[in-house]
Amino acid sequence: MDKWIQIAEALLSWYPAHARDLPWRRDTDPYHVWLSEIMLQQTRVEAVKEYYVWFLKEFPTIEALAAADEDKLLKMWEGLGYYNRARNLQKAAITVVHEYDGRFPETYEEILSLAGIGDYTAGAIGSICFQLPTPAVDGNVLRVYTRVMEDSSNIDQAAVRAKIRRHLSEVYPFVSCGTFTQSLMELGATVCVPNGMPKCDVCPLRPFCLAGQNGTWQAYPVRAVKKARRLEDKTVFILRCGDKVAVRKRQQKGLLSGMWEFPNIEGTVKEQQAADVATQWQTLPKQLEMNYNYTHIFSHVEWRMTAYYFACQSMCRQFHWVTLEELDKQVAIPSAFRPFMEILKESAHH
Ligand code: ADE
Ligand code: SF4
Repeated sequence: MDKWIQIAEALLSWYPAHARDLPWRRDTDPYHVWLSEIMLQQTRVEAVKEYYVWFLKEFPTIEALAAADEDKLLKMWEGLGYYNRARNLQKAAITVVHEYDGRFPETYEEILSLAGIGDYTAGAIGSICFQLPTPAVDGNVLRVYTRVMEDSSNIDQAAVRAKIRRHLSEVYPFVSCGTFTQSLMELGATVCVPNGMPKCDVCPLRPFCLAGQNGTWQAYPVRAVKKARRLEDKTVFILRCGDKVAVRKRQQKGLLSGMWEFPNIEGTVKEQQAADVATQWQTLPKQLEMNYNYTHIFSHVEWRMTAYYFACQSMCRQFHWVTLEELDKQVAIPSAFRPFMEILKESAHH
């Protein structure tokens, strides 16, 4: 079975309790959904919230929008920018009034034919308002999809986006099409976030997600032409002794020269071998707290890291042992090792 069928189920159960309460989610009136999607295209959710409510007070119906004075409409759009969105909105409103008797069209093709409405917006309106299996593939959805699949196709190619749209359309649930669309967007916006670490530990797709399991999320989505990168496997040691953790300084030449790092060795080793290494370093490891995979992408190299977090009993002399606070405030740890710091911080809270 296509795992996306299970993913759809997982998202549909996750969504009700986790979706943000946003003004345009209170009903599925196509005018409301359409307006919000157009506003959200180039503007942040936080900024759209107030505008959306205010705009609907002024133009509560498609008829009111169609009849609006253009100067007044554009003035109201001030602050949102990209004024063509407002012009197209009114043009489409006029089409709906004159050619569809004021009733918003209900087929994907008709919706798509309206001014200012492309694949994404038509998919959103079709699924959210009319329960059509029409995906709305935006940046959030592309990120989630390519990570779940470890799909390294270039998402800047229209053919790739079409392929993803086609695949998703085949796994749309028969009911709840709108919820599926919104849950994918919502997961991308709030869990599988665009900047920084995705929250894989609370993600309902974790059981299905290759990038989440392999720690390769940073590699997705692929945007530009792919350069050939050298792959290096590493085993990283997070060695904690009491409230201190082991760090060491990198060599003065080469990648990340002179920065601090967690002790690491070339290659991927299993837990027992890792414990042997930590023993050879005379840290007296007593317990494996956690292991974790993370891939960090540099321009010419990719580090595929497996980290082992050991509670230890001895602060051997070859490393520097620092508290979390010192690690935060005084020790320059490059971003390749940041996720391991997050793990340390979390474990300190428990
Ligand atoms: N971004 C684009 N469409 C959205 C929606 N319907 N809800 C939240 N964020 C969005
Ligand atoms: Fe994104 Fe992680 Fe969830 Fe995968 S498991 S979809 S990478 S947040």
